Amino acid sequence: MATNDRVLVVGGTRGTGLLIAQLLLKRGQRVRVLARDPVAAATRLDPAIEVIAGDITRPETLTAAVDNVDQIVFTAGARSGRYAPESLVKATDYEGVLNTLAAAQLKRFKGRFLYMNSIGITTPSLGAMLINLLKRNTLVWRRRAEEEIRASGVDYTIIRVGFLSNAPANQRQIDVSQGALPLSLNRRTGRADVAEAFAAALHHPNASRATFEIIWGKGHQRENWDQLLDGLKPDAEAAGTLNG
Ligand SMILES: NC(=O)c1ccc[n+]([C@@H]2O[C@H](COP(=O)([O-])OP(=O)(O)OC[C@H]3O[C@@H](n4cnc5c(N)ncnc54)[C@H](OP(=O)(O)O)[C@@H]3O)[C@@H](O)[C@H]2O)c1
Repeated sequence: MATNDRVLVVGGTRGTGLLIAQLLLKRGQRVRVLARDPVAAATRLDPAIEVIAGDITRPETLTAAVDNVDQIVFTAGARSGRYAPESLVKATDYEGVLNTLAAAQLKRFKGRFLYMNSIGITTPSLGAMLINLLKRNTLVWRRRAEEEIRASGVDYTIIRVGFLSNAPANQRQIDVSQGALPLSLNRRTGRADVAEAFAAALHHPNASRATFEIIWGKGHQRENWDQLLDGLKPDAEAAGTLNG
């Protein structure tokens, strides 16, 4: 792994993004976190993490954040588990991705853009219907965000996850696939396991221009993350299966 890269974590102020930021720091990366409220964010993050002010819905605030970064991890979204009107969902879950990509490309970003998404964006299910009612049409806007990332020309990895849990990492078997799993309550993923997946995907050659889905399996044993990602195929080869 190339250490000492500077990684920008958009969404690193809480939840999965915060776990990713802390894990990358532990693994020797330089970490920068974008924060709407930098003072509050700094109280939650290791002091060695650089916190920079910015809001993904306000493009003019992103220029400094994307300056001189080697990789970008994007986990931001309208807050988990809360109602969000479609205007907020569109501005955050869709336009926020585009704004970040555009700001990075203006700075001639050459690294990998790693995006956290949900399973179920292409396969209809009761779970997807309920999530789209709570956070209005979030899965519709997130599917469009994926399409924009793939069309942007940047190197990217898209990681789709199941319903999130705060269980510790490395307790459960991880199933990695490149299909279009429906969203359901029994398809779950731990935030800490997702953080491990992002850390591994940051530099794994097979994660380049690839989309994959991770959910907990039934067993307790697991391969290490490098082995799990070894079997990935680029989207150009896997595209037929990703959209259901
Ligand atoms: N909950 C689930 O089961 C589930 C399943 C699949 C995918 N997801 C998605 O996975 C991601 C991580 O979820 P999570 O529950 O771990 O995190 P979360 O608690 O929902 O955190 C969301 C993050 O996005 C940031 N954010 C929101 N709007 C922003 C804006 N305008 N500008 C900058 N940052 C902004 C928040 O910053 P602040 O600290 O400023 O609020 C926070 O850091 C989310 O995108 C979520 O929608 C969730």
